[in-house]
Amino acid sequence: MSDSYVVTGGAGYAGGVVAAHLLEAGHRVTVVDDLSTGFREAVPAGAEFIEGRVQDAAKWLDPSCDAVLHFAAFSQVGESVAKPEKYWENNVGGTMALLAAMRSAGVRRLVFSSTAATYGEPVGTPITEADPTAPTSPYGASKLAVDHMIAGECAAHGLGAVSLRYFNVAGAYGSCGERHDPESHLIPLVLQVALGRREAISVFGDDYPTPDGTCVRDYIHVADLAEAHLLALDAAAPGEHLVCNLGNGNGFSVREVIETVREVTGHPVPEVVAARRAGDPAVLVASAATAHERLGWRPSRADLAGIVSDAWKFAQQFAQQREEGRS
Ligand SMILES: NC(=O)c1ccc[n+]([C@@H]2O[C@H](COP(=O)([O-])OP(=O)(O)OC[C@H]3O[C@@H](n4cnc5c(N)ncnc54)[C@H](O)[C@@H]3O)[C@@H](O)[C@H]2O)c1
Repeated sequence: MSDSYVVTGGAGYAGGVVAAHLLEAGHRVTVVDDLSTGFREAVPAGAEFIEGRVQDAAKWLDPSCDAVLHFAAFSQVGESVAKPEKYWENNVGGTMALLAAMRSAGVRRLVFSSTAATYGEPVGTPITEADPTAPTSPYGASKLAVDHMIAGECAAHGLGAVSLRYFNVAGAYGSCGERHDPESHLIPLVLQVALGRREAISVFGDDYPTPDGTCVRDYIHVADLAEAHLLALDAAAPGEHLVCNLGNGNGFSVREVIETVREVTGHPVPEVVAARRAGDPAVLVASAATAHERLGWRPSRADLAGIVSDAWKFAQQFAQQREEGRS
């Protein structure tokens, strides 16, 4: 059946890939994005595009929408520490306006991009949704506040919602890939070294209690993430707020990522060991058992070399486009 979906933040990395998957499944898609960190050309062909803010949802949301997939947010942890008010206004204020507009228009299903940053320092590994949430940054706190806001909306007003707590989203899907500016994610940063745009990659701490001393993270392919969103739309049940971690349940160390980039790109990728960053836990790995059980989701692209190789294809394409744009 063809449904009509609004994707907020669909000119960004994850939202663009999910919008492309919805279109491929035969749905109608409207992307709403203010292009604050996104790019018009990341909106997939076939989607309607509204340049606008989530804060103004009452102006663009109408009752013909079957569900909202809400990606629009700021997501730089460091920036959120320096400018917390920017994160509360956008992530919390924006979602509050969106929920009010959904209530008025009678749109009763929501899938929200939550994050592993809601947990803070983990109490064990892998992390389950029952673990304590104690975010260590205003970014994580703003996302956790939104999760609470959505829970209240479900209980009081019958919204059906799924919060997907992403771990590290990576890889690319066709012409949609990661191009955050500034970039803070490890794989695109290491690929910048392979492309000659950066001299070396910094390894923040190599004395963690992990097999090679570097931090371990759970990388999930953006196409696997997209499939989870389509399943979450089907799973959203009136009055229920379902929270699911999205990760592979398998961690890779910073050094393993760098080594995989060397293998995939054939570039030596120099590394420089730097001091640990405050608030970086040694290991962040998801238990995805809830997503398996409740959504029927299983990642099919968990192999790190495959993730890096898709990201590398996109990084090369993107570098070439930049060069052509300059000439
Ligand atoms: N990429 C990851 O690894 C990761 C991990 C955990 C959670 N998340 C969450 O997933 C979502 C998408 O992340 P991403 O990596 O694709 O980020 P992104 O910056 O590429 O995309 C966010 C998009 O939202 C838009 N936007 C921001 N505020 C807006 C507003 N008020 N109104 C309209 N548009 C607005 C931006 O222009 C951008 O296109 C975010 O909510 C982020 O917190 C991402």
